[in-house]
Amino acid sequence: MSIAFQQCINPDCSATYDVGQILTACPKCGSLLDVNYDWNAARVPMSLSEFEERWKSRLNPVDYSGVWRFRELLNFAREDQIVTIGEGQTILQKNDQLARQCHMQPGTLFLQYEGLNPSGSFKDNGMTAASTHARMVGATMTACASTGNTSASLAIYAGVTGHFRCIVFIGSGKIAFGKLSQALDYGARTIQIRGDFDDALARVRQICEKYPIYLCNSVNPFRLEGQKTIMYRILEGLGWEVPDWIVVPGGNLGNSSAFGKAFMELRMLGLINKVPRLAVINAEGAATLDDFWNVHGLRWNDGRPDSSLLESRYQKMDAANERASTLASAIEINRPVNLIKALRALDVCDGIVRKVSDQEIIDCRARIAATGFGCEPASGATIAGVMRLRHEGVISASDRVVCILTGHQLKDPDLTMAYHSADPALMAKKLTPAGVQHTPFANPPVVVDNTEKDIVAALGL
Ligand code: F0G
Repeated sequence: MSIAFQQCINPDCSATYDVGQILTACPKCGSLLDVNYDWNAARVPMSLSEFEERWKSRLNPVDYSGVWRFRELLNFAREDQIVTIGEGQTILQKNDQLARQCHMQPGTLFLQYEGLNPSGSFKDNGMTAASTHARMVGATMTACASTGNTSASLAIYAGVTGHFRCIVFIGSGKIAFGKLSQALDYGARTIQIRGDFDDALARVRQICEKYPIYLCNSVNPFRLEGQKTIMYRILEGLGWEVPDWIVVPGGNLGNSSAFGKAFMELRMLGLINKVPRLAVINAEGAATLDDFWNVHGLRWNDGRPDSSLLESRYQKMDAANERASTLASAIEINRPVNLIKALRALDVCDGIVRKVSDQEIIDCRARIAATGFGCEPASGATIAGVMRLRHEGVISASDRVVCILTGHQLKDPDLTMAYHSADPALMAKKLTPAGVQHTPFANPPVVVDNTEKDIVAALGL
C-alpha cells in the first residue's frame, strides 16, 4: 500500500486521488494537485543528518542520486521502480568574490550549481521523479512543452533509460541552440509549432488529455516532488542549517512551488525549526508574477487567491497581444502554470518578488561566470536580484543567501559570444533589440598578427 496520494490544493475541494492516476489538474475543480503523504505511516528519519549515511553506500544508484538519497521525503515509488541517471550531484559553493560585489560579508553568499546535472539544468531533479511515475503507470510515450531545458531533460531520460519514447513541443521563438541540439541529439521527436512557449504548453496539454501520452511539464505534481530535493541538498551543504534567503529565477514557477512545499513539509515534520525567505526574480520582459504580487497585491489567502484578478489580467494581456520577451529565453513565459502554488510558497517562506532588466541579467550572468560558475542568462537573474535587494536594504550584509544557478553556461553560447565578442554586428543583432547597450564585463578575444612582437605587445609584457 502506498503512503502517497494526489490531492487538490484548493482547500474548498481537497479531493484526493490514487498515485496510480495520471492527472495534471484536479478533475473536480481544475486546481493544481500536490503529491501528499501519510506521514504517520512513513518512516521519516528523526533528523536530516541521517540522509548523509547514504554517502557510504553510493554504489547503490538510489543512494548515489542526489534526489533519491532523500526518498523518504518523496515516498511515492518502490525502490525497484525508480528511474535514475545519477542526477543531483550538484554542489553548494560559497562565493566570496560575488559576495563582495553584492556588498555582503565574506562567507554569506552561496551558489547552488544545478548546471552540473546530466542534462545541464535543474530539470533533471524533477524529470527523474516524473520518469519514475511514468514507469509506475506503464507509460510508453511521454511529452513536454519547453523553452529548452525541460525538453533536453526529458529527452535524456527517454534516451538513457529506454523506458519510453518522448515528444517535445517547442515554440518558434528564442530556444537556445545548446538546448535544442540536446533534444535532437538524444532522439526526441521534436515538434516546433508557430507560437511561443505558452502556446506550445497549451497544445501539449490538450494532446496529452486526448491521446495516451504522459505529460512531463511542471503541472505534473510528481515532477515537483523531485525538485524539492534541491533544497535538501542546500541544507546538507550548510550542515543542516537553514539559510536566511533562497533566491531563484521565476518562469513557470515550478521551482518556487517545489521549494515552498519542501520547507512546509520539513517544518511540519519537525526536521527544521525555521524557514528561509524566498525571493523569486522575474525578467522585466516576463514579469507576470511580479505584476500580480507587487502591483495587484495577489496573495495565497489561505488557498483562496482572488482568481478574478487572474482572469482580468490575462484577458487584458490577450486583448493587447502582450507577449513575454527577454534575453533569458528559459523564463520567457506569459502565464506561469504554477502561479497559485508559487503564491503558497511565497506565503510559507515570507517571500518577495522582484523583476530585473535584461541588462542586469546578462551583466550578472557574466559576473557569475567570471568566478568560474558558467550559467545561462536566466540564472543571472539571481545575483541581479540579490544586488537589487541589497540596494533596497531588504537583504542585509550578514544574511546567508543561496542563489540557484538553474542552467549551465553551454546552454546558450550564442548570447555569451554576443556579449564577449565586442563585434558591433553581433551586438546589434542579439543584444541591442533587448535594450542592452553596454557589455561592461566583456572579455573579447585580442586579435593580433602571429608574431612574437605583436603578441608580447598585446600582452603588455
Ligand atoms: N532557469 C532555467 C535555466 C530554466 O530552464 C527555467 C525553466 C527556469 C529557470 C524557470 O523555472 O519554470 O520552475 O520557474 N524552464 C522551462 C523549460 C520552462 O521549458 O525548460 P520555473
